[in-house]
Formats: sequence, structure tokens, C-alpha cells
Amino acid sequence: MHKAVILVGGPSRGTRFRPLSLNVPKPLFPVAGAPIIEHHLSALAKIDNLKEVLIIGFFEDNVFANFIDHAAVEYPNINVRYLREYQALGTAGGIYHFRDEILRGNPTSFFVIHADIACDFPLQGMLDAHSKHRGLCTLLGTKVPREQANKFGCLIARPETNEVMHYVEKPESFISDLISCGVYLFDSAVFSEIKAALDNKKNAHEENDYLWSAPDDRLRLEQDLLRPLSEGKKLYVFETQNFWRQIKTAGSAVPANAAYLEKYAAGAPERLARKKEGSPDIVGAVYIHPSAQVDPSAKIGPNVSIGPRAVIGKGTEGLRLALAVHLIDILSMQAGSCILHAVVGWDSRIGTWARVEGSPVQGHSTTVTRNGVKSQSITILGKEVSVKDEIIIRNCIVLPHKELKASFHNEILM
Ligand code: GDD
Ligand code: GTP
Repeated sequence: MHKAVILVGGPSRGTRFRPLSLNVPKPLFPVAGAPIIEHHLSALAKIDNLKEVLIIGFFEDNVFANFIDHAAVEYPNINVRYLREYQALGTAGGIYHFRDEILRGNPTSFFVIHADIACDFPLQGMLDAHSKHRGLCTLLGTKVPREQANKFGCLIARPETNEVMHYVEKPESFISDLISCGVYLFDSAVFSEIKAALDNKKNAHEENDYLWSAPDDRLRLEQDLLRPLSEGKKLYVFETQNFWRQIKTAGSAVPANAAYLEKYAAGAPERLARKKEGSPDIVGAVYIHPSAQVDPSAKIGPNVSIGPRAVIGKGTEGLRLALAVHLIDILSMQAGSCILHAVVGWDSRIGTWARVEGSPVQGHSTTVTRNGVKSQSITILGKEVSVKDEIIIRNCIVLPHKELKASFHNEILM
């Protein structure tokens, strides 16, 4: 039997996902028509004999209640629960704290998945690979552009066996373009190693500096556990060639949205909007919530998600919503407006002949530098932002409840 843990963190940090996380906790933010962590759940539900998914974090208890009720209907074969850390215990601390819950029912192995990623989740491939070696952990790896690798956990593996020889968390200088995706499969026996990691940390603290500082209660999966596992030849990598994205900044929700929509286009086209008589002009992969109203004159796509109760109004030329737009709950959109590479928050209004646009995301970075000035590639409108007629908002982040009567470029509007 298998289980899984989704690490969701908590509300105390995470400034990078603002302003969208001011209204919904990041793990529940909708991407391609479903909360970020529902994509995790739907992949886990495809694994035979996976019985339970534990969401571990330090959000209030009620934050995941509706999500769990929904999961019980949608995925009746898995039991989903939320376990709350009394404080941030670190990426391995929560897992150790709730070890009795994880081990209840004697699972042979369990997945651990970070909430803040979008991925094709090749979980069956990981299980198959894991059964062929004698390690305690198989982690999912992917190649990223060389200049972006040091933002991740980097690893060097033996090509013939996939055994990880070196693991370095966010190295200062380049060591490898093969990085850890934040998806792990652990043998249940790993808990003795986690206990050893915890003891090592305590001993090191007592020997070195206990007079000067309080012990750091957080146990880090990466530095405290993966590193010793690799030194003990117990860590293996399963490299994916399929899509993987990290969701850190609000703008990074846009490429994640596009990746999931393209995945649906290939394997589950029934989830996507279809072009039919009298419907808007749909280009490529587009998701439209059943409760949204879109005027037939609009042009939408590719890679657009339109959320519940959005209203896309009538336009003389039709609305041109092209390329990687992620729209959520737009209250009203009027003639001739255009939205590109943007996230439009709940209950925002875009006036006639207005433009809300960003630039395409390059690789894994959501910032662009032009003439030495760094700005956001994706334009983000927070909740209840109103863009007046004929206004242009380009490469901006706009906080909730703003009324924009003038055009802005490369700014954070508070
Ligand atoms: N429950 C719980 N408790 N979850 C936590 C805690 C904690 O104290 N701290 C972080 N998390 C969750 C976050 O919500 C996120 O889903 C995940 O753990 C990892 O978050 P970070 O600790 O911010 O790490 P990172 O995202 O910068 O880097 C990690 O992920 C990369 C892949 O996305 C590392 O594991 C890298 O090695 C890896 O490449
Ligand atoms: P920053 O450097 O400030 O972005 O901090 P960080 O590295 O902690 O950011 P990260 O995106 O990893 O967020 C940590 C956890 O906090 C994640 O699990 C998020 O789900 C959660 N989180 C991020 N932003 C917010 C927020 O504004 N509100 C709430 N409620 N939770 C958030």
C-alpha cells in the first residue's frame, strides 16, 4: 500500500505570490480550472493501491476544508486529510512529526510532493524505477537551463544506475543542470534516517553554539536528509523529459496554466472549450468554466483559463485574448480590449479598447530586464482592479481594489 504527503507550507512567508495570495492561499489558487494541489491529487489517484493523501502545513485548520470535501466526491478511493504543524517545522520536520499518521496501515512507501510545482507527475515511472534499486528514495529530476540551475537543488548522478552521487541545495556556483523537482518517493524505512538526521542536527548544535542561539527546530529535507542519503548511496533520480514548472511568483502561474492546458489538449480534450456554431473563436487549448459567459464575438487562446462567473462582453472586433492569458472571474470585459500574458484577478473590470499585457516568460524566470531595468514579465491584476477605457497596463503588478485611469509600464501599483 502507498500513501502521499503534499507539503503546503503556510501563510507566514511567501511574498512572491502576492497579490494573488492575498485572496486565496497559494496551494488553492486555480490553474487550468483546478486548484494547484488538485493536479497533484488527480495524478496520485491514478496510482494503484494509493490509499491516503496527507496535506501537511501550517495554515489554519479550516483552509483546506472545502477542498477536502470536494476531493471526497471527486476521488472517493483516497482518504484526504489536513495535518497542521504547530509552527513551520521545515520540509522534513512535518513529515517526522506526523510519522505515526504516515505509517498507520503499514504503507511500503510514500510520495512527498511540494505544493508549489506544476508537473506531468510520472509517479508510476518513479514507482517502477524505485522497485529496481536498493535505495530509500527516488526523486524526480529534470534538466533546466544552465544559468537558472542554482535556484534549485542540483544533483550529479551515475548515468548507468541513476544513483545520486552529489546533492547540493541551491549551490553558489554551477554544479549540474539536473535539478530536483520537489517530488520524492520514500521507503517507509526512511524514518530511521530522518531520526538520525535530527539527532545529528541536535548534536551539532550542542557541540557548537548552544550557548549562543536557540536550536533551529526546522528539519530540512534537502540539506539534512537528501545529502546524507546520497552520501550513503541510498538516493536515486528518475529523470523526466515531460513538463515541470515551479510556481513561486504570481506570474509563474501563467506558464503552469499553459503546461496543464497543453496536457489536456493531448490527453483529456473533453476538459477544454470546443469551437462550435455560435461560440467564441477558440484558438488552441482554452478552459472556460461552465458558469462563465463569453460573447461569441470574442477571440480566446491559446492557453487561456477563464474562471467562474467571468463575463466577457461583446466587442466590435471581438476580444482578442491571446497567448497564455490566465483569467479568473472577470466581471466584465468590453469592446476591443486585449489581454496578453496576464493574470486578471477576481471581479476585475477591463474597459473598452484597454490593453493589459505582459511579455512571454523565458525559461524558468518570470522577470525581464530591459535597458538595465528589471520588471515582471507577466502582468498581474489583483482582485477588484478596474482598468478604465483605452488604458494600457504593461508589465505591471497591480494590488487589489485599484482603479487605473492612466497607463502604466514596468511598475508595481500599490
Ligand atoms: N509543511 C511544511 N512545513 N511545508 C513547508 C515548510 C514547512 O515548514 N517549508 C516549506 N514547505 C513547503 C512549501 O510550501 C513548498 O511546497 C515546498 O515545501 C518547498 O518549499 P521551499 O522550502 O520554499 O523550497 P524551494 O521551493 O525554494 O526549493 C525546493 O523545491 C525545489 C523544486 O521546486 C527544494 O527542494 C529544491 O531542491 C527544489 O529544486
Ligand atoms: P518569499 O521569498 O517571500 O516568496 O518566501 P517563500 O520562499 O517562503 O515563498 P514560497 O512561495 O515558498 O511560500 C512558502 C509557503 O507559503 C507556500 O507553501 C505558499 O503556499 C505559502 N504562501 C505563499 N504566499 C502566501 C500568501 O500570501 N498567503 C498565504 N496564506 N500563504 C502564502
